[in-house]
Amino acid sequence: MAKTKIAVLISGRGSNMQALIDATRDENFPAEIVVVVSNNPDSPGLEIARAAGIEIDVVNHRDFDDREAFEEALDATIKLYGARIVCLAGFMRILTPSFTERWRDLLINIHPSLLPAFKGLHTHERALEAGVRIHGCTVHYVRPEMDDGPIIGQAAVPVLPGDTPETLAERVLQAEHKLYPQCVALACSGKARVAGERVRLQVREFGAELLMNPHD
Ligand code: GAR
Repeated sequence: MAKTKIAVLISGRGSNMQALIDATRDENFPAEIVVVVSNNPDSPGLEIARAAGIEIDVVNHRDFDDREAFEEALDATIKLYGARIVCLAGFMRILTPSFTERWRDLLINIHPSLLPAFKGLHTHERALEAGVRIHGCTVHYVRPEMDDGPIIGQAAVPVLPGDTPETLAERVLQAEHKLYPQCVALACSGKARVAGERVRLQVREFGAELLMNPHD
C-alpha cells in the first residue's frame, strides 16, 4: 500500500506527535512521517522523534525578519522531505493566509476544545470558567482564521466535579492521542474530503461513534 508522506510540525513536548509516530508503526496505517519540524530548537519532541528514527529539522522563527520569510523556509523544508500532508501537533505559531491557502485541505490541526467553542489559548481554564459539562478536542483542516476550518473529528470528554485545568487537560490529552491518528488516517486515505466547507467522511470501518468518543 502506498503511504501518504506527512510532515508533523511541533513547538514543544510532542505527545501528539508521539501518538502519530506510534500509529505509523502499524503497517496498515495509510501515512508515514517523513519529517518532524519544529520552530523551537529546544522542543523536547525533537529528541523523541530522533530517537524514533525519524528525520527532524528546525526552522527557528527567530532567525527570520518577518512571518513571510519564516513561512517560506518552513514551506521549503516541508517540500524538501516530500511531504504531501502537514499535521500541526502543538505548533504554536500563527500561520498567515498565504501559508494556509497554499496547503488548503492538506493542512490539519488538533485543538484542545470542541470547536467552535474556546478557540485560542487556555481552553481548559475557560471551559471550567464557563461551566460546560462536556469538553474535548477537535481535528480540523486549517483555514486562515485561527482554529477554524472543516472538522474531521471530535472527541468528547466529561468535565468532572473537582476538575482543575490540569486534570481536565490530562483527560483531553488522552482523547487527543486517540483522535488525531484516526483523523490523519481518514485524511490520508481520502476518506475525509472537504465539500462545501464540511468534511464528508467515508467511515464504514471506523464506527462513527469512535470519532465522538474515543473511550469506547
Ligand atoms: C495539545 O493539547 C494540542 O491540542 C495543543 O497544544 C498541545 C500540545 O501538546 N494545541 C493547541 O493549543 C493549538 N491551538 P503536545 O506537544 O504534547 O502534543
